[in-house]
Amino acid sequence: MAGKLSKEQTKRHNRACELVDSDRELTEKEREFVLDHFHESANTGRTLDGAFFTPAELAGELHLVIPGDRIIDLCAGIGRLAWHARDLVTRHFERLPSREIVCVEKNPAYVRVGRRVLPEATWICADVLDVPGMSLGPFDCAISNPPFGRIKRSGNAPGYRGPLFEFHVIAVAETLARRGAFIIPRESAPFRIEGGFVDQDSPAYERFHRETGIKLRPNVGIPTDDYRDQWRDASPAVEIVLHNRDEDELEARAEQAAHAEQSTASRTRQHSLTTTTAPKTGFSDSGGDTLF
Ligand SMILES: C[S@@+](CC[C@H](N)C(=O)[O-])C[C@H]1O[C@@H](n2cnc3c(N)ncnc32)[C@H](O)[C@@H]1O
Repeated sequence: MAGKLSKEQTKRHNRACELVDSDRELTEKEREFVLDHFHESANTGRTLDGAFFTPAELAGELHLVIPGDRIIDLCAGIGRLAWHARDLVTRHFERLPSREIVCVEKNPAYVRVGRRVLPEATWICADVLDVPGMSLGPFDCAISNPPFGRIKRSGNAPGYRGPLFEFHVIAVAETLARRGAFIIPRESAPFRIEGGFVDQDSPAYERFHRETGIKLRPNVGIPTDDYRDQWRDASPAVEIVLHNRDEDELEARAEQAAHAEQSTASRTRQHSLTTTTAPKTGFSDSGGDTLF
């Protein structure tokens, strides 16, 4: 049961559990109550599995950088990111269809809660590392606030052999979607937001990039530190990083074109040097025989 919770937190957590256990459909308000008050520290596997649910306001910020209609939330917990990813207001006013959302979470207790919070999503109770083999089809965007750091895992994601769980999840995400938005520890990001963008050295990211070719990009400037005191029992320094395979491919093509242009220019230079400096056969001014 809820170990370190205050009396008030325990009361609300218990009410959230009652709602989950009830045999009727929950209202939108009740679903939100469960999301706000079901406490991850009430779960014994929390530390092992790095379960720290995203603060609501930070999840609200992340939803701004999620494109497309088909979204997968990896390591979804009870559905905090997926809840905001529905983007109900914008999609209503822009007359867009509801997003299709798939949530993957290993802990069956969280999946049970998630199914009550977000019944419109498809919930898959599974290890995230098994997802590439599931033939779920392509998604427009993968999102995740994964466990951070050296969390015990069942294997490796495609390409990455390092120890950090967040990178294994991003490598899995890359097999599923051309775009991605992830909350990761600040030291795993190639930049930080401190007023503006500041590039930073991250040996962990360098290794991930080297092994997978995946590039992590800055977001629109989301000040994650503003929400640092809203996490429960932790105040992690995090960044929101984006993946965009379309931009990666465009940049790779531009680089190739620039490279090809450079080689042509240097070949032309070489050729004109050769033709202006080397004497032509038959027109040697050496005084020797000519061919004609
Ligand atoms: C940091 S929490 C974030 C939960 C949720 N995404 C959120 O933002 O509130 C990480 C979640 O990953 C889950 N998890 C840990 N290992 C996993 C694995 N191998 N496969 C799938 N989920 C996993 C944990 O149970 C936990 O719910």
